[in-house]
Amino acid sequence: MGSGRNVAVFGAYGHTGRFVVAELRERGYVPLLLGRDQDKLLALAQAQPGLETRQASVDDPASLDRALDGAAAVVNCAGPFATTAAPLVEAALRAGIPYVDVAAEIEANVDTFTNFAERARAAGTVVLPAMAFYGGLGDLLVTTAMGDWTAADEAHIAYGLSSWHPTAGTLASGTVSGQRRGGRRVRYAGGRLEYHDDALPTLEWPFPAPLGPQSVIGEFTMADVVTVPSHLAIPEVRTYMAAKAAADLSAGDASALTAVDELGRSAQTFVVDVLVRSGGAERRVAATGQDIYAISAPLAVEAVDRILTGRTRTTGVVSAGAVFDAPDFLRALSSHLSVDVPLDTRG
Ligand SMILES: NC(=O)c1ccc[n+]([C@@H]2O[C@H](COP(=O)([O-])OP(=O)(O)OC[C@H]3O[C@@H](n4cnc5c(N)ncnc54)[C@H](OP(=O)(O)O)[C@@H]3O)[C@@H](O)[C@H]2O)c1
Repeated sequence: MGSGRNVAVFGAYGHTGRFVVAELRERGYVPLLLGRDQDKLLALAQAQPGLETRQASVDDPASLDRALDGAAAVVNCAGPFATTAAPLVEAALRAGIPYVDVAAEIEANVDTFTNFAERARAAGTVVLPAMAFYGGLGDLLVTTAMGDWTAADEAHIAYGLSSWHPTAGTLASGTVSGQRRGGRRVRYAGGRLEYHDDALPTLEWPFPAPLGPQSVIGEFTMADVVTVPSHLAIPEVRTYMAAKAAADLSAGDASALTAVDELGRSAQTFVVDVLVRSGGAERRVAATGQDIYAISAPLAVEAVDRILTGRTRTTGVVSAGAVFDAPDFLRALSSHLSVDVPLDTRG
């Protein structure tokens, strides 16, 4: 197998990184196991025989350059991304290879769009932040729901999670984002990110059957407020979280994350219900699946595969909905995700 199949995974031994490594192998790629801790890399290599490990640190650009040598692309799974994204994007640009990450941190994703847009475009390469459950999937669903609309008044993305036992990485990323906001809250309204101190509303969201209406926290703002407006003219983008999952996240018990199947997925199920409104018209699409961390792997790896096989629409720092054919992308994930729109009519 040639080096065109080598894909570097930074943070390979993390919870999400392991799913990405397994998915790359499943798809016939050769993952290069990258991370800052050599012992953890070696432990992963024992569980994944035949794979190369490369220790690298975001504080040491030369180590990143060595680690990316011969890679066709890099997937960054090491968060908080406030620390890791910029050094890895820089290294990918030096290596002349595409960069994909799974960042859910709103401010870190904004930084990637802001700081690398020109250089990524000039290099003719793809830099794709938030290519995961939060950020990437919501954007693919909103883009699909939009169909032939080029603008809308509002987009609403409601997360119907059965539970949310966060990983240590999720908790650390939430802490960093909270610090960057000075403890304030954020929402996307009037065409921009708005920082505020208002209490978050609790309301009922009409999820499709079989989940049905659920109590959700409104303005529970996720990375979709960066990815969606990066390419769609929608001045109000709002995200909602099932109240039960929000309570789990606040409890922050990483030890409760237990695998229940041979793929290593937890019992957590999700519905992502998307509604877009333009004038008096509404369009809707919903996706269901199991385990928000596990589903991030096929999302990121499908993105890598499309980039490496030239199935992209643009270059630069991009979101999934801008760079890929969104309905086609979702169709390709049908063994991982059920999407309830007639996708073949929304091409
Ligand atoms: N957008 C989404 O939907 C989505 C989905 C999945 C994950 N994520 C994000 O992805 C990140 C990882 O999540 P996870 O579930 O995999 O967490 P995890 O199991 O705790 O793994 C975190 C990984 O990041 C590495 N890491 C952290 N800081 C690092 C640094 N400065 N340099 C190098 N490596 C560093 C850790 O390495 P050490 O063990 O050496 O510290 C570990 O490999 C989090 O930010 C999470 O929010 C987002």
